[in-house]
Amino acid sequence: MENFTFCSPTEFVFGRDTEKEVGRLCLKHGASRVLIIYGGGSVVRSGLLQRVEQSLTEAGLPYETLGGVKPNPEDGLVREGISKVSGERSYFLLAVGGGSVIDTAKAIACGACYDGDFWDFYIGKAKIEQALPVGVVLTIPAAGSEGSGNSVITNTATGQKISLRSPEHLRPVFSIMNPELTYTLPPYQTASGICDMMVHIFERYFTNTAETSITDHVAEGVLRSIIEQAPLVMKNPQDYGPRANIMWAGMLAHNGLCGTGHVEDWASHFMEHELSALYGVTHGAGLAVVFPAWLTVVSRTNPHKAVQLAERVLDVCPDGLTEHEIIAEGIARLRRFWSSLGLPTNLHELGIEQPDIDALVRNLHVTKGEPIGGYVRLDRTLTREIYELMK
Ligand code: NZQ
Ligand code: ZN
Repeated sequence: MENFTFCSPTEFVFGRDTEKEVGRLCLKHGASRVLIIYGGGSVVRSGLLQRVEQSLTEAGLPYETLGGVKPNPEDGLVREGISKVSGERSYFLLAVGGGSVIDTAKAIACGACYDGDFWDFYIGKAKIEQALPVGVVLTIPAAGSEGSGNSVITNTATGQKISLRSPEHLRPVFSIMNPELTYTLPPYQTASGICDMMVHIFERYFTNTAETSITDHVAEGVLRSIIEQAPLVMKNPQDYGPRANIMWAGMLAHNGLCGTGHVEDWASHFMEHELSALYGVTHGAGLAVVFPAWLTVVSRTNPHKAVQLAERVLDVCPDGLTEHEIIAEGIARLRRFWSSLGLPTNLHELGIEQPDIDALVRNLHVTKGEPIGGYVRLDRTLTREIYELMK
C-alpha cells in the first residue's frame, strides 16, 4: 500500500427534509451573504429553490441567485459568477443541483480569490491558495462533487474540458443529501449517474499497487451494493430506500475512500471528457461506452484486476474458464448491466454517428500529455485503438 492522506472534512447531512436545514448550516459555516447557484430550472420546477430561499430568509441571511448552469458546465457562467462576487470575500457559495452546478460554484470559489484568470488553475498555470466556502444541496447522485475536491469545467474558446483537483480548497464545507430530491430525475440521468459512480470506483480499483486488500474490499462492497440497488431505483424511482443507498454510494465512490493507498488510473475519465467536450454527451453515459473498451485493451497486457473484478463483483464462476474467458465474460456482464439500465453500448447509441477519432486522440494528448493512465500506460496508438473499439 502507498502512503496516503485521507481528509474528507465535508459535513454530510443526509435524509428526508434536510434541505430545510440549509440556513442553519450556512450560518454554522460562517456565511453572512449567500450566492445561490443552480442549473437549467429543475430546482425551480420542483419547488426546491423556494424552500432553500425560505430557509435562508428564516436564518436572516441575505442572498442572490445565479441560475443557468448547463450540463458539462462552461467557463462563461463561471466568469459571470466571479464578477458578481469579486472584491467581496464575504460571499458563501451555495450550489443547489448536481455536479455541473457544484463544479461551477467551486470554479467561482477559487476564481474569486485570484487576480488572474480562473482557467489558470485548470491548465496548471497557477495553484489555488484561497477559495470561498462552498455548500451543497445535492439533487443527483452521479459526479460525487458533493464530497470531492474536484471541479470539471469546459472552456468554450479552447474546446477543452478539464478536471481540476485541489481537495484542500475545493471540498464543500457541507453537503445536504435528501434522497427524495432525486425522485424527479429523468431515468437516463439516474442511469448515467449510476454508471459514473461505478467508474469512479473502477478508476481507483484498477491499480498495480500491491497489498490493498482493505481498499479493494471497500470498493467491491460499494460496487456490489450499486449493482443490487440500481434495478430497484430504475423500476420504482420513488422508493426511498434504493434512492438513499444509491445517493450515499455516489458520495462514497468519489470522496477518496475507495482509492486509499492506491496509485489511481483515470484514463477512462480523460477519454470521456474529450467525448463530452466535443459532442456534449452526458458524462456517465459516455463512460458506459468508454470503460468496457478501455478494459478490453488494458486487460490484454495487465489482466489481474479484471479477473478479480469479474469474480468478486460480477459473479463470474472461473471453473473451466481461461483467464481470457473470465475477463470477456466480466466485460459482457458489465455491458449487459448498463444496457439494462438504458445506457448506450457504443458511440452510435450515444448519438455520435461519425466520430472524429483524430480530433479525440489529438485533444486528449494535448490536454493530458502522453502516456496517460496508471494501470496501463497508454500512448496515442492505444488510445486510438480504444476509441475505435467504441464504434
Ligand atoms: O440543470 P437542471 O435543470 O437542474 O437539470 C439537470 C441536468 O439537466 C438534471 N437534474 C439534476 N437533478 C435533477 C435534475 N432533473 C430533475 N430532477 C432532479 N433532481 O440533470 C441534468 C444533469 O445534471 P448535472 O449536474 O450535469 O449532472 P451530474 O451530477 O452528472 O454532473 C455532470 C458533470 O460533472 C462532471 C462531469 O464531467 C459533468 O460535467 N464531473 C465532476 C466530477 C467532480 N467534480 O468530482 C467528477 C466526475 O467524474 C465528473 O467528471
Ligand atoms: Zn465521472
